[in-house]
Amino acid sequence: MRAVAVAHPNVALIKYWGKRARAGNLPATGSLSLVLGGLTTTTSVRFEPGRRGDLVLLDGREDPETSARVTACLDLLRREASVTHGASVESRNDFPTGAGLASSASGFAALVTAGAAALGLSLPAPRLAEIARTGSGSAPRSLQGGLVLLTNRESTTVCEQVATPADWPLEVVIAVTTTGPKAISSREGMARSAQTSPYYDQWVSTHGHDLSAALAAVRDRDFPVLAELAEHNCLKMHAVMQTTRPPLLYWQPATLACLHRIRALRDAGLPVFFTVDAGPQVKAVCLPGAAPEVARELSRLEGVRQVLQSPVGEGARVSAAGD
Ligand code: DP6
Repeated sequence: MRAVAVAHPNVALIKYWGKRARAGNLPATGSLSLVLGGLTTTTSVRFEPGRRGDLVLLDGREDPETSARVTACLDLLRREASVTHGASVESRNDFPTGAGLASSASGFAALVTAGAAALGLSLPAPRLAEIARTGSGSAPRSLQGGLVLLTNRESTTVCEQVATPADWPLEVVIAVTTTGPKAISSREGMARSAQTSPYYDQWVSTHGHDLSAALAAVRDRDFPVLAELAEHNCLKMHAVMQTTRPPLLYWQPATLACLHRIRALRDAGLPVFFTVDAGPQVKAVCLPGAAPEVARELSRLEGVRQVLQSPVGEGARVSAAGD
């Protein structure tokens, strides 16, 4: 009753920010993402007959909020398998944890993949995605590889791979900037934005256009059009965040320095665009070949602590099973 799974974080090019309803963690909008194959989460799940409750260690530490979300996900898997055994879960990231690099997406994708395998369940992909979504809205996107589209259905979501890593071998340079004070979690931030930002309704109502235009750009492999749309959608999300009360100001000075440098590099002819999630780190998406120069340029900026490079990666998968 044990299995180990690996999964990679993903970065959204067209973002998810806001929920339809708390129950089931349904997003208000669809999203389009790219899996970061260079960063990996490895999670082992062992169900132990007779054990009460779950023990959850994230990089060797217990965290009550994460543990509660993990248990809620495992409860759904236990229900599918008609068992009540508690589990011990150990999850490790090979990238800086808590640095806003979407570890919850890779974490919950690896968790449900390992958990289902440990219980001998072969659930249909949409059901596994639904269970992963209850842990983190961005997690279903890490179950599949390449570029992934998540769209809303009436009372659920659907995930679809729109390009494999080989179809469009983009590269991502990640600038880890000054971390600053601990950011507000996405979950808390989204709830606040929906209640208080005067731009939240426009964010939701204009989102469908961004998503379908970006999808067409991916299908046409039209990098300049995707670059313009992804930067626009990212800045629109941050406009909502920044006009939330109290404001969600995730950027640090080095974040802004990276955005300016990336725009200057593009103006000089380099195929690169930026995106930023709920934290101060910057992801620079590049056409093949441009990443080394982008990495060199970003690492020279004041406040950039570390620069990571990642190809587009595969979806979550079982790496070991059995006792
Ligand atoms: C800014 O998936 O972390 O990265 O569903 O509440 O766990 P919860 O939120 P989460 O939010 C991700 C927000 C984002 C944009 C994105 O990845 O689409």
